[in-house]
Amino acid sequence: MLRLRHDTAPAWKAVLLGNLDAFLCDHAHNERKVAAAALQLAAHQPRHNGLVRDLIAMAQEEVGHFGRIHALIVERGGQLGHDQPDPYMTAVHRQLRRPDNAAYLLDRLLTFGIVEARGCERFRMAAEALSPGPLGELYWELTASEARHHQCYVSWARELYPEVEVTSRLDELLAAEAVIAKSLPLRPALH
Ligand SMILES: [Fe+2]
Ligand SMILES: [Fe+2]
Repeated sequence: MLRLRHDTAPAWKAVLLGNLDAFLCDHAHNERKVAAAALQLAAHQPRHNGLVRDLIAMAQEEVGHFGRIHALIVERGGQLGHDQPDPYMTAVHRQLRRPDNAAYLLDRLLTFGIVEARGCERFRMAAEALSPGPLGELYWELTASEARHHQCYVSWARELYPEVEVTSRLDELLAAEAVIAKSLPLRPALH
């Protein structure tokens, strides 16, 4: 289990409840983007059969989440809306080494793992904040799913790169992510 180095402030729960509709739209777009990112990673690593298989399964699951959150938005009388800039993801992506670096795949796997771990933390907080009911239950279910996803990415990093390299890079990326998460304002958004 990945341990993030910065805990989201408990005040984020009130921000979320203050604009649940905005949060749901942002969440839906995030599910769409992680599904697309998993498929893109599969296309870039066609030689790794096991990794491609796991990424296809992950993308299918994320598309399922996208569909469920979109249905919820519609049920509440809303619309998906346009995707908004995500300063967290922009800053996290800046940590990746260049595509021509031999460790680019390592960076992508570990970064995806860290982002899933942050999603797991936020979904758990959302589930705690929401009143007991179908929406709260959905967020508990999503918390479990993100916990599996982040472990999957980190396991693949460990399978493909030496342990010492994984540990040291993970340490750097976790430290960078904590600085990013701490520096950003609390928004009714997943990040
Ligand atoms: Fe998801
Ligand atoms: Fe996920």
